[in-house]
Amino acid sequence: MTNAFFSPEPFPKGNFADDLLRPVKRQPSISPMKVLSVTSEVFPLVKTGGLADVTGSLPKALHRCGVETITLVPGYPAVLRKLGSAPPLLVFDDLLGEQASLLYAHTDGLSLLVLDCPALYSRDGGPYVDAAGRDHSDNWRRFAVLSLAAAELAGGALPGWIPDLVHTHDWQSALTSVYMREMSLPTPVVLTIHNIAFQGQFSACLLPVLGLRPDLYSMDCLEYFGDISYLKGGLRTSDVITTVSPTYAREILTPRFGMGMDGVLDERRSALRGIVNGIDLDIWNPASDPHLPVNYNAASLGRKRANRTALLQEFGLDAEDTGPVFSAVSRLTWQKGMDMLAETADEIIWNGGKLIVFGQGDHAIEQQLTEVARRHPGRMAVRVGYDEPIAHLIHGGSDAIVQPSRFEPCGLTQLYALRYGAVPVVSRTGGLSETIIDANDAAMSARVATGFQFHPVTTEGLRMALRRALHVHQNPKQWARLQNQGMKAQFSWDRSAQQYAAIYASLVHGSGTSAIRGPIRR
Ligand code: ADP
Ligand code: GLC
Repeated sequence: MTNAFFSPEPFPKGNFADDLLRPVKRQPSISPMKVLSVTSEVFPLVKTGGLADVTGSLPKALHRCGVETITLVPGYPAVLRKLGSAPPLLVFDDLLGEQASLLYAHTDGLSLLVLDCPALYSRDGGPYVDAAGRDHSDNWRRFAVLSLAAAELAGGALPGWIPDLVHTHDWQSALTSVYMREMSLPTPVVLTIHNIAFQGQFSACLLPVLGLRPDLYSMDCLEYFGDISYLKGGLRTSDVITTVSPTYAREILTPRFGMGMDGVLDERRSALRGIVNGIDLDIWNPASDPHLPVNYNAASLGRKRANRTALLQEFGLDAEDTGPVFSAVSRLTWQKGMDMLAETADEIIWNGGKLIVFGQGDHAIEQQLTEVARRHPGRMAVRVGYDEPIAHLIHGGSDAIVQPSRFEPCGLTQLYALRYGAVPVVSRTGGLSETIIDANDAAMSARVATGFQFHPVTTEGLRMALRRALHVHQNPKQWARLQNQGMKAQFSWDRSAQQYAAIYASLVHGSGTSAIRGPIRR
């Protein structure tokens, strides 16, 4: 499918082989495994949302389980800037007609293979959209090339390193397993669905350009409502499919949440698992966070107040000290229920609270929120933008974080909120339903409540939850208890990484689930 030729010195940085051979602390029952993780974003190099947080932090936790992950990521400008001048490990001379080099770096605790293909990745804007916010028109090619490169690596393109398993994430890398099956590679593949709303749906006319046989346009592989879907191809050809919470794993089997893929998933039900995301406890730690004016922990929660003052100043809100500060750090989209937040903002303000909304997304929702904020000068602020330090300051300075998602595969902001003593107000769906314990009477008296949940997921439901939060906030003792209980909640990666490692082990060392091997035939 493509020819790769190697640089005369295969590992010019000198540390590639060393990194791979580095001794790791192993769990006795799990033998070391080499995993190629294929992703369109990875923190801290390139991030548009939670996917990057997961692909950036899971490898470190897997390392503690005896799994060595190398992450393949496109060479966007931000990634190449971070790498400096790494010489290529190898050059692909024909990835769907593109020439690309493969660079290696070890940075921020991650081993990275970077696919440097300027024609596809060196451009303004974000990983998926141009500077004006429109999808890059050749996303079908950009991510097919990433997937094909991954398949080549699984097939041994890099001398001295063949992964035992490939882990793909979302539609952008889902074609990897399709290419691998076409190359008759036996390597197992795990596909993680982070959000089934994004499916990589393109015209079926592209099949020949993708180097794929016309008969893959079939219900058993890529065909999807008259088009092709990269995600569907991945769902059909991966050994195990995971998603980022057990509740979402159940939800996507239904027409309401499956977004057209519920039938495909139902057929692969026995290969579907839900594993809740963890968080990077070093990066999201109020006791050491460099983005907070004042660090604190559960024992010094009073210090959070100084961050609240800094936050109000940052957003130009009145500094007087009454009422809770509610915030949202989110994509401003229908999925995230940000239109419902706009409709309920008055409730917060009229009851003495303040509201900060920070994010970007749907232009109409940005406008809707901005207009509400205009009615509440000094008490509500909306800022359209994306900025990691500000996101940290918001968690550090807010009393409550609102996340009224209509669907939420896992959600990370509510986990960061818990750790920062900002009480989450969330809808009861997906990962939100299993990471937050609602402050009902029973949970309050058992001292286990960590936030406020509402259901049904409607504007009225959100309004009621906000009223409950405002009411509890008037009782400082109860509020502090909620904060403390939330800060004690355990969302490190350790347990979830062990679950991934166990799935990998079952596939690599036998007893895999429903492996699909060899070229796909109808
Ligand atoms: P999703 O991936 O669906 O957007 P998650 O809750 O899983 O939702 O992850 C969102 C991630 O993106 C979090 O790390 C959050 O802090 C970050 N984020 C969202 N909006 C912004 C923003 N405007 N600026 C900085 N970080 C943001
Ligand atoms: C997606 C989901 C979010 C999840 C994240 C990381 O963006 O929308 O719920 O937390 O991926 O898995």
